[in-house]
Amino acid sequence: MSDSAKKNAALAALALIEDGMALGLGTGSTTALLIEALGGKVAEGLRVTGVATSERTAKQARDLAIPLTTLDETPVLDLAIDGADAFDPDLNLVKGGGGALLREKIVASCAARFVVIADASKRVAKLGVFPLPVEVVPMAATPIARRIGALGAEARLRRDRFGEPFATDEGHWILDCAFGEITDPPALAQALQGIAGVVEHGLFIAMADEVIVGTEAGVERLARR
Ligand code: A5P
Repeated sequence: MSDSAKKNAALAALALIEDGMALGLGTGSTTALLIEALGGKVAEGLRVTGVATSERTAKQARDLAIPLTTLDETPVLDLAIDGADAFDPDLNLVKGGGGALLREKIVASCAARFVVIADASKRVAKLGVFPLPVEVVPMAATPIARRIGALGAEARLRRDRFGEPFATDEGHWILDCAFGEITDPPALAQALQGIAGVVEHGLFIAMADEVIVGTEAGVERLARR
């Protein structure tokens, strides 16, 4: 999908940001476009603070002089904005393609409003085509993969470009789990939460208040019912 569709979504989200807001800053290429534009507004005098959902996002924000805070200092955020790997008609999401799902879920859960920005290619009838990232404690990766296998998915350990296990910002590993069509996302979320050693999974159930879908022509806004 082209950058202009992502940019349209990002700029629509930028318009939601008000002076004085505490923000959750997501991770990924769509959110990076938002943060770039936000840096311009901050340079013009907009006063915001942000909690970054990854080291990558924190670096981009610092480079643009966007003030950063922590959840210790600012445990309640006005607005979190983040991308998604897929969203369904109920605005349930799959996230974690960039490996930041744990901090992303924490930050979104601390926000009064959670807005997702995504291009139209992320829209699906059923979640599951994009493999579900599951963040695990490294010592438990193999038994967890076996248990996820019993739930019906092939769980593959994500590796970095050197062939080493991909380590998250929190030092965990990620299993990318190919479930195919996920018929009951809340039930799967509950099953994954019940596996010892699973730190977090990329199903964001009933968390997004709105998805701003970017297209070449503009945006479509979907609100959770
Ligand atoms: C990061 O871990 C993910 O949850 C991202 O939000 C997701 O991969 C979306 O990224 P893009 O905006 O690059 O598609």
